[in-house]
Amino acid sequence: MTIIHNAVVDTILARRSVRAFQRDRQLTEAELETLLACGFAAPSGMNVQSWHLCVVQDRALLEEIGDGFVRMVKDRPNLPPVMVERLKDPDYQVFFHAPTDILVCCETSRGPTNSAHLAENIVLAAHSLGLATCFIGGVLDYLRSPEGAPLLARLGIPAGYEPMYFLSVGVPAESPDARPRDAGKFNRIL
Ligand SMILES: Cc1cc2nc3c(=O)[nH]c(=O)nc-3n(C[C@H](O)[C@H](O)[C@H](O)COP(=O)(O)O)c2cc1C
Repeated sequence: MTIIHNAVVDTILARRSVRAFQRDRQLTEAELETLLACGFAAPSGMNVQSWHLCVVQDRALLEEIGDGFVRMVKDRPNLPPVMVERLKDPDYQVFFHAPTDILVCCETSRGPTNSAHLAENIVLAAHSLGLATCFIGGVLDYLRSPEGAPLLARLGIPAGYEPMYFLSVGVPAESPDARPRDAGKFNRIL
């Protein structure tokens, strides 16, 4: 396969989900503002911009959510093997201790499509800045549960919007290999 390399292509191909971050290095204001600008530059149908972001940098709140998530899942039967392994680590936290977590929300009536474009823009921009990200979707089960709901309320999601997933963001403390991809998932009409 021939790949034409440039900065954007190389950023897309080199991005990985990272699950270890430098804990004492918060994003600079310029980094955060750049990520937000890139997110909000995403396309949306009829330019409705049907998204909302909650930027969470309150470590105590992130820990509280992380602790609650572990309490909820630890005794569940049929956990996926990857979760069983993660829960064996006493230092495990659902956000992997990223210093910033951005909750991506969508307008409930319009659905998640537009917000997914915004999220991917943020993820790619972060990688291009030397930052790393991981989508964190699993924790939403906890935040929607009766125990987690008061914590979700503290995130300030506006009425008419719903949470989709978090993006953990920080300076990477690991360099994972690429996960496998199926390059055959297309057809071609000539
Ligand atoms: C919508 C969505 C939700 C995800 N939720 C989680 C999650 O809760 N925890 C996690 O460790 N990774 C999560 N991931 C990351 C995926 O596991 C990862 O993207 C996939 O394994 C491919 O690896 P890569 O991103 O390094 O290419 C999520 C990814 C997406 C797109």
